[in-house]
Amino acid sequence: MGVLHEFHDAAYAQDWANRFTPSPSREALFARMLQALREHPLPALRVLELGTGPAYFAERLLRERTDLAYEGLDFSRAMLDLAAERLQPFASRVTLCAGDLVQGDWTTAVQRPVGAIVSTWALHDLGAEELTAKVYADCHRLLEPGGILLNGDFVKPEVTHHDFEPGRFTVPRHLERLAEAGFSRSQCLGYWEQELVAPTTAHNYACLLAFKDGEEHEGPH
Ligand SMILES: C[S@@+](CC[C@H](N)C(=O)[O-])C[C@H]1O[C@@H](n2cnc3c(N)ncnc32)[C@H](O)[C@@H]1O
Repeated sequence: MGVLHEFHDAAYAQDWANRFTPSPSREALFARMLQALREHPLPALRVLELGTGPAYFAERLLRERTDLAYEGLDFSRAMLDLAAERLQPFASRVTLCAGDLVQGDWTTAVQRPVGAIVSTWALHDLGAEELTAKVYADCHRLLEPGGILLNGDFVKPEVTHHDFEPGRFTVPRHLERLAEAGFSRSQCLGYWEQELVAPTTAHNYACLLAFKDGEEHEGPH
């Protein structure tokens, strides 16, 4: 739990942002997510990000997609301040929202309609597979029909002799959890910095894509 509390500390947040300026592999994850957003027409031109942090992905999204409005949610005021600074050039299209993905119903705090929900390196920090699964269900409720969810997060390799934090679980389990939440056609778009022998906490992240079916995909009522 320690690190979750530290995200609220301004010096820790700034240090995290400095240590994790995007590496080439993380840029590849961001590029894959941007590609997915291009490939799938959104039912609403509003993207919500969960656990925005210093807004590295948001900066790239807003620079490329001048047609989109963006809302970033984070429970750390310190991270939201860093995000506001980085996103200043796009301020007219940006909303930043303080919200906790675990406590209470965060979905009531965000603007609608939401065409896509994105997240990078954040949901594992909730600390448990059950909590990520609950956020998946919240996302399914919040998204417009035809909307997509993109979660680029740390996972546990399918075959490993190492211990991983409980918030990190395998890609097949993510796909099962997405299906349980009501999503269809879930798939893994890529896996970066795979390290099976000596993994650190910054290795092994994947990108999951899931769809909330539109009217045409739903069964008879
Ligand atoms: C490891 S950082 C990743 C930040 C950013 N997404 C990135 O990839 O650079 C995780 C972020 O999730 C936020 N976070 C963690 N737990 C949260 C919660 N329960 N509710 C909302 N935000 C949370 C933290 O404050 C932090 O900004």
